[in-house]
Amino acid sequence: MPRKTARAAGRAAKKAVQRCVDPQCGGVYGLRERIYICPRCGGTLEIDCALESSRAAGNPAALRRRWASRAASHEPIDRSGVWKYREMLPFAEPIPFVTLFEGNTPLYGASRSAKYCGLDALRLKHQGCNPTGSFKDTGMSAAITQAVVLGAKTAVCASTGNTAAALAAYAARAGLQAAVLLPRGQISAGKLAQSLDYGALVCEIDGNFDDCMRLIQEVGDDPSIYVVNSINPFRIEGQKTIAFEIMEQCRWQAPDHVVVPGGNMGNGTALGKGFQELLDLRLIKRLPKLSVVQAEGAAPVARLFAALDRRKAANGDNLPATMDPVKHPHTLATAIKIGAPVSWKKALRAVLRSGGEVIAVSEQEIGDAKAMIGRDGIGCEPGSATTVAGIKKLVAAKKIRRGENVIAVLTGHMLKDADYVANYHRDTLAMDADGASHPIHGAFRNTPERVAANKSAILEAMERRRS
Ligand code: F0G
Repeated sequence: MPRKTARAAGRAAKKAVQRCVDPQCGGVYGLRERIYICPRCGGTLEIDCALESSRAAGNPAALRRRWASRAASHEPIDRSGVWKYREMLPFAEPIPFVTLFEGNTPLYGASRSAKYCGLDALRLKHQGCNPTGSFKDTGMSAAITQAVVLGAKTAVCASTGNTAAALAAYAARAGLQAAVLLPRGQISAGKLAQSLDYGALVCEIDGNFDDCMRLIQEVGDDPSIYVVNSINPFRIEGQKTIAFEIMEQCRWQAPDHVVVPGGNMGNGTALGKGFQELLDLRLIKRLPKLSVVQAEGAAPVARLFAALDRRKAANGDNLPATMDPVKHPHTLATAIKIGAPVSWKKALRAVLRSGGEVIAVSEQEIGDAKAMIGRDGIGCEPGSATTVAGIKKLVAAKKIRRGENVIAVLTGHMLKDADYVANYHRDTLAMDADGASHPIHGAFRNTPERVAANKSAILEAMERRRS
């Protein structure tokens, strides 16, 4: 490792630590320790950035001004939507940061989707506008930077496609080897194409995502290898900047609700951590309610949540020790086809502390919500549309009120899974599960029309659609 890098990492290690999230254990470890779970109890780890004692504390207004001023800078470290918030990250300067200019994603108003949900207004934070087309880029920027700090040779992950694409791209930028474990035949063509094009070693595994995740934990023992799944707490550090950006775009007035999709539960974890840190530093006055939405066929956390005694769970400080996994998860939203999410405890704790919900939505609800987001001229991949489908359900259940300020986080770009979109609009979408084919009706479909190759036929087709 270059001397400068070693000095930077050394200074960071003095402030921040890795901490076991289990309050009974509370194990504390240095930032340079290449660990993913607590060596003492096997619990999940998070980074305690010691922000209260850092230069980020004390003057919220100055910090806000400093971040705002970076929008006018041309320095790569200021232009990145992750590193512009570097005061909040566990890296000391000079940071050997790896960036593709992630973050800085739009927050769109979406009137048709709002009406569909029964809301006066709804905003969509579109993480699909990141360099590799998903929210994974923010976390990967931090995780690959940590891989550089640690002097790793190879970065690896298990993935349903997007993490792999982000890893492949960021590893290529950093000159590291990338290796990705993908469940064979269960990844959309667009995502697979990205990993191939960015030069990763693509291992197609006979099994599902949870099998890949199990294998990754075995492979990760090798000291030259760095695991960058969201179990890696540095990934979460990068992803928590999405929470900072949302608040900056809301002029530091917390919205009432923020809703995210749930797969491996890293996203919910990261946003929860980001909001909590802003509250601790008095950059916001209250937490938004954070809710997570899963697909019905892959909803172990929603199931657990439905059976949970909230009072007993004590704001997430007293969570059940285990969660029943879904053995054979199924959903066409392949991004979130996960039966044993590794970060369920951290995400559940964040949801409970904020007063949010974890719910599940059906394949039909996902498909229709996705089409509605498309009608707003925005679009997203199926996994992301769980948010709008979930918001509609939460409004119907009176958990969200019509006039409240609601933000859905869209996690991936529409072109990530173009086959799904085309099939929905042609009304040929179907899911194979339990030995049968289950059709999803294209209720808001926009089927292509075969039109004769002459002007009048084309004008006629337009006229038909006008009425
Ligand atoms: N949305 C998209 C588009 C995703 O790719 C994922 C996860 C999620 C939502 C769920 O986020 O896992 O943090 O709860 N994709 C992972 C992957 C699993 O390998 O790309 P989560």
